Amino acid sequence: MATTMSRIKLVAGNWKMHGSLASNLALLTAVTSGAKAFDGQFAVCVPYPYLAQAQAVLAGSKVAWGAQDVSEHALGAYTGEVSASMLNDFGCRYAIVGHSERRSFYGDTDAVVAAKFSAALKVGLTPILCVGETLDEREAGITTAVVVRQMDAVLAAAGVAALGQAVVAYEPVWAIGTGKTATPAQAQDVHAIIRARVARDDKAVAERLQILYGGSVKSTNARELFGQPDIDGGLIGGASLVAEDFLGICAAAGGQR
Ligand code: 13P
Repeated sequence: MATTMSRIKLVAGNWKMHGSLASNLALLTAVTSGAKAFDGQFAVCVPYPYLAQAQAVLAGSKVAWGAQDVSEHALGAYTGEVSASMLNDFGCRYAIVGHSERRSFYGDTDAVVAAKFSAALKVGLTPILCVGETLDEREAGITTAVVVRQMDAVLAAAGVAALGQAVVAYEPVWAIGTGKTATPAQAQDVHAIIRARVARDDKAVAERLQILYGGSVKSTNARELFGQPDIDGGLIGGASLVAEDFLGICAAAGGQR
């Protein structure tokens, strides 16, 4: 479903397990000062130990910050986990849930992802819900089935109104960190499927929903991707670690002022 309504573009960095206090300072400082030149929404999702640093450097700027995961539990004996209210203590706006690396390496099932999504929302964080198919699934012709199943799990657990407070990121697993970007047409097709699935439950929520593309986005391919009617920005891995690259992508989303 292509829509005529224009949604604000969001570019969110996912640093994954990269960084140090010293290197982050230079990166955060460059990103926050460079982002002033662009329209749009910007964020960085940093490793937990660096949330305080992100808050200190980014507070009052137009770059929001967030975490890369969140516990599905509110509190308790869950060694190693971090709750949504703890993320709130550090001023997070976003929490990524269901990233393919969590799904494949740490066993986050559709049900766990839905529980994490709800836990984030409950304290007022904006979940960035990741969905996407593997290469085998794409080649087997089941991309739509996989992505719709991942969306269904969250819609069934949290309800469509909850999607009104969330962001979705389509990240084909075969495009993550591989340098193989989905073509703008391939990405647009799946984004339209995601929006149509949400529209089946609530058209207004679907129209407003920001759906990001993630998977080898670079400043050289971002403009064409973001020019698609259902692509509302990007979730950026590798290129979010280099200020110039990330800002190049922010420019593609927001345009020069
Ligand atoms: P890359 O941009 O490195 O492909 O990573 C995408 C991603 O997984 C963002 O969450």
